[in-house]
Amino acid sequence: MSTYLITGATSGLGRQVARRIASMGGHRLVLPARDAVKAKPLRTELLGLGAAEVSTPALDLSSLQSVGAFVETFRRDMPHRLDGVLLNAGSQSAKRLVETTDGIESTFAVNHLAQYLLLLGLEDCLSAQATVGWTASGTHDPAETAARLSGFRGARYTTAARIARGEYDDASIEQACKDAYATSKLCNIVTARAFARTGSATRTYFAFDPGLMPGTGLAREQGPLMQWIWKTVLPRLASLLPGTSSTERSSAVLTDLLIGTLRGSHNGAYFNYTGKQLEPAHPAQEKAVEEDLLSTSNQLVARFVQAAA
Ligand SMILES: NC(=O)c1ccc[n+]([C@@H]2O[C@H](COP(=O)([O-])OP(=O)(O)OC[C@H]3O[C@@H](n4cnc5c(N)ncnc54)[C@H](OP(=O)(O)O)[C@@H]3O)[C@@H](O)[C@H]2O)c1
Repeated sequence: MSTYLITGATSGLGRQVARRIASMGGHRLVLPARDAVKAKPLRTELLGLGAAEVSTPALDLSSLQSVGAFVETFRRDMPHRLDGVLLNAGSQSAKRLVETTDGIESTFAVNHLAQYLLLLGLEDCLSAQATVGWTASGTHDPAETAARLSGFRGARYTTAARIARGEYDDASIEQACKDAYATSKLCNIVTARAFARTGSATRTYFAFDPGLMPGTGLAREQGPLMQWIWKTVLPRLASLLPGTSSTERSSAVLTDLLIGTLRGSHNGAYFNYTGKQLEPAHPAQEKAVEEDLLSTSNQLVARFVQAAA
């Protein structure tokens, strides 16, 4: 029996991955969730599909204190090693950038920083051969066609300190929301590569671009018209649009990566939803970006790491 921890399993892609692993039968799933109302039926469904055990402990990734408390409880109560961790939860602002209670721009905080802290806190709960994956996004790449058609212009990495303050100077507010999202996803790729370089040599780290998957909850902050297009029109056009996938399709590849039946040519590799290994856009490969991101992230989470340890 293997044990997998997946963030963002109450909806969309994460839910499909959890369903796939449950359907394999006999595995243990730890699915941290901020919404107990969604978590309860999820647990029932996954047990019905064949999961051996499903727990849905409380975790709100917009609060570093919540991550610290989750890690503390997990380390105290969980007797089993984690064979796979999927850092998949994500959110995208549409109309304004907001700060979390920690005073950090929320897209960066949820998509990168909180899950970075989570992994630091759980590192010694991982099995020796564990796999750790991040759901990133092709939006980090300014050359990505589907992302450009959706108004993205690639990650705008300046410094992590500025990103944490939500500073995207030359952008309208709508563009800044897109920039913040694309930049947070670059941070996912950079972090996967950094762990692959400096973490345990027996563990596997990867980042994954699921493609555009219309219909998920990611557009929840868009206006009613955009939500309608996202939920009803775009899924029907998916096969015609470049770079477009579905949670069914992308979850198949992502599950293979998480359980280790699909591996890259090197540790820290970046894959797209077809299972193809790609080179991420240039800033994700820059040493200076990695050093700056990790140094600032470590400073921002320092007191919560100590609390959780
Ligand atoms: N959909 C796309 O086109 C697309 C494209 C590229 C990358 N991605 C990435 O794919 C991943 C999954 O997204 P999705 O499309 O499946 O969207 P989704 O349906 O909205 O799922 C997002 C998940 O993250 C959770 N989450 C968000 N904020 C959270 C918080 N503060 N604390 C705890 N959990 C939180 C959500 O929980 P609740 O259920 O409580 O809201 C949900 O389970 C994300 O990382 C996203 O950035 C999506």
